Amino acid sequence: MKIVVIGSINMDMVMKVSRLPQKGETLTAEGYFTVPGGKGANQAVSAARLGADVNMVGALGNDGFGEELFQHLKMEGIGLEGINRTEGPSGNALITVDQKGDNTILVYPGANHKVSQEWIKQQEEIIKKADWVMLQLEIPMNSVVTAARLARKLNKKVLLNPAPATVLPGELISLVDVVTPNETELALLTGSDDLEEGVARLIQQGINTVVVTLGVKGSVAYREETKISASPYSVKAIDTTAAGDTFNAALVVALGDGKELEDALDYANAAGALATTKMGAQSSLPTKREVEDFMKRSNI
Ligand code: RIB
Repeated sequence: MKIVVIGSINMDMVMKVSRLPQKGETLTAEGYFTVPGGKGANQAVSAARLGADVNMVGALGNDGFGEELFQHLKMEGIGLEGINRTEGPSGNALITVDQKGDNTILVYPGANHKVSQEWIKQQEEIIKKADWVMLQLEIPMNSVVTAARLARKLNKKVLLNPAPATVLPGELISLVDVVTPNETELALLTGSDDLEEGVARLIQQGINTVVVTLGVKGSVAYREETKISASPYSVKAIDTTAAGDTFNAALVVALGDGKELEDALDYANAAGALATTKMGAQSSLPTKREVEDFMKRSNI
C-alpha cells in the first residue's frame, strides 16, 4: 500500500502551560521541548508507522531545523526524493498545551510556502507509483489544487484534510475522493453550522465520501445515501496535537488495505485516540502493533 503525502513539515516548539494565555498576558510555561511536526509530515510518519510505504513531497529550509527534520523523516523510512531544500527557514509552529490537553497552534510556514506548482508537477513519477495521495492546507492553495489535479489525472485516490480551515476553491472539491473536516472546519467550508446540511453541500459539489471528526464523540462518514457512525475510544488525553493527522493517516491506510469504510473509521478512531495519550506531534504517533493491541484491549 503506497501513499504520497504532499504537504507541510514543521519543527514544533511546545510549551506546557497550566492554562492557555489570555490576550496581553505573560505566562510562565512549566515545560518546553521541540519535536518534529507539520500536518503533512505527521500524516506521512503516522502512515509509515501503521505499515504503509510512504513518500513525502514538500520543502525544508537550509537551517538547522531543516537538516534535523530531513534526518528524522529518513529515519522513519519516508521516501524523500520529493523534498525541496530551499533558502531560508523551515516551517515551524509555536504550540501551547494546557493541563486538559487542549492546545493553541501558531504556524510560521517558512519553506512550506515554497512548495510550488512547478515542484509538484516535477514529482509525477513519485505520484504515479502511489495508491493514495494525501493533502492538507499548509502549503499554498494553488499547489494543493495542482497536486489534486495531477493525482486525478493519474487515477489516484485523493484524501483532503481541510486543515487549517479555509474556504476551498470549487475545483479542488471536485478533484477529491474523501474529505475529512472537523465540525468547525465543516462549518467554515460550507457556510452551515448544521452538520447534515454542511455534508450535503459537499456531496452536491462532487465529493464521494465526507468524514467528519467529532473529537471525543468519535467520527461519522457519509457516502451516497449511507451514514456510518463510529464510536469513540475512551482514553486519558494529555495532548491532542496530531490526533487529527493520525486519524487521517490511519483512515487511508485502512481503506488502502481494503477495509470497509465502517472498519476503517473504527481503526482511525482508535489510532487518533492513542495519539492523544502522549505529548507532542510525531512523538505521539502510534505503530500498527500499538493500535491493534489497543483495539483488542478496548473490545474485551
Ligand atoms: O496538526 C498538528 C500540526 O499542526 C502540528 O504538528 C503543527 O506543526 C501544525 O502544523
